[in-house]
Amino acid sequence: MAKKQSSKAGTATSNFIHKIVILDCLDFLTSYDGPRFNLVYLDPPYFLDRTFRLEATSDDVSFQGGWEDGDVEEFCNQIGGTSGSPSLVKYLSWLYPRLTLIHSNMADTGSIFLHIGTREGPYVSLLLDRIFGMKNWRSTITWQRSHPHNNMTKSLGNVSDYIYYYSKSNSYTFNLLHTPHDEIYLANSFSNEDERGPYALAPVIQEKSRKGHYFEYKGANPPYGWRVRLETLKALDADGRIHWGTNRAYKKIYLEEAKGAVLQNIWSDIFNITRTEVDNRKYPTQKPIKLLERIVELSSNVGDIVYDPFCGSGTTLVAAGKLGRIAIGSDISPEAVEIATNRMNSIIESHESKLF
Ligand SMILES: C[S@@+](CC[C@H](N)C(=O)[O-])C[C@H]1O[C@@H](n2cnc3c(N)ncnc32)[C@H](O)[C@@H]1O
Repeated sequence: MAKKQSSKAGTATSNFIHKIVILDCLDFLTSYDGPRFNLVYLDPPYFLDRTFRLEATSDDVSFQGGWEDGDVEEFCNQIGGTSGSPSLVKYLSWLYPRLTLIHSNMADTGSIFLHIGTREGPYVSLLLDRIFGMKNWRSTITWQRSHPHNNMTKSLGNVSDYIYYYSKSNSYTFNLLHTPHDEIYLANSFSNEDERGPYALAPVIQEKSRKGHYFEYKGANPPYGWRVRLETLKALDADGRIHWGTNRAYKKIYLEEAKGAVLQNIWSDIFNITRTEVDNRKYPTQKPIKLLERIVELSSNVGDIVYDPFCGSGTTLVAAGKLGRIAIGSDISPEAVEIATNRMNSIIESHESKLF
């Protein structure tokens, strides 16, 4: 199903047409003339010289986790010269034209998430600053990929990766996500209960004065005013949503209605795939599906185009397909594309999607 090609990608208007190609993403992007990408996630080879072994295939297949030398002169002309060791410059000059092509194929409201190691990450972020503009940097996510390494004697356990998040412009798709409440917060905060169930207390008294918020209600006249206007306070009270304490009033936040904290930029609640897990790793550098589902939900909508230039085993594509987005992936390795295609086919059976 996956074939070496650079033909036009499926359109966003027909039902979910996904595409996976065996190509260097540079070649794919150079000739790409399909709909623009709303979201790009990329997990390129890091600045390492390692060979990864494929555990999923019976053959002794391996792939070089590396990259080829880029055009250093062209890169230095573009970037205006850079520091670092010569080989790092070569690595960056390999990545730079690919990022530039990604940028030009992205929708104006699109976002990019670049997943990289903490060592080379800051250098790579210079490229993103240059291509996307510093003003379009949205966040740098620190993903804690593993449990603590307790065998360290002379250094700290390096257990995290960075995910650099940029948008193409100031107007971009962003869906606010919440993380589940932690156990300690749940146990400590929802200690009151009424007929609707357990609830926590939120302030309804103002910290700083605001016009229209000074009034007396049921004998209470807080010196700094209320957080809400009189009509809102009355409506909350009539609905049983005000807790009258001995000294002050509070708004009730019911456990059933409470959202967790807004997602922050340290993600320590999604662990990497381990060898013992049921949905076992199919590819050496495979990322957990939850990580990609979070990124897809955060920065795209149903029907949007999600592209992964270094798709590997297709985790991004699977997340996108499951969530009703159109997935496009490229990878230079035929083995990776075969794994990605098989994974996509298994979700397509249970979703209204096609793959070509
Ligand atoms: C870190 S892995 C991606 C793993 C992926 N995120 C997953 O969940 O399986 C990097 C991938 O980039 C591919 N790759 C290396 N150079 C490439 C290139 N120039 N164009 C496209 N893919 C490339 C490798 O074959 C490898 O599958």
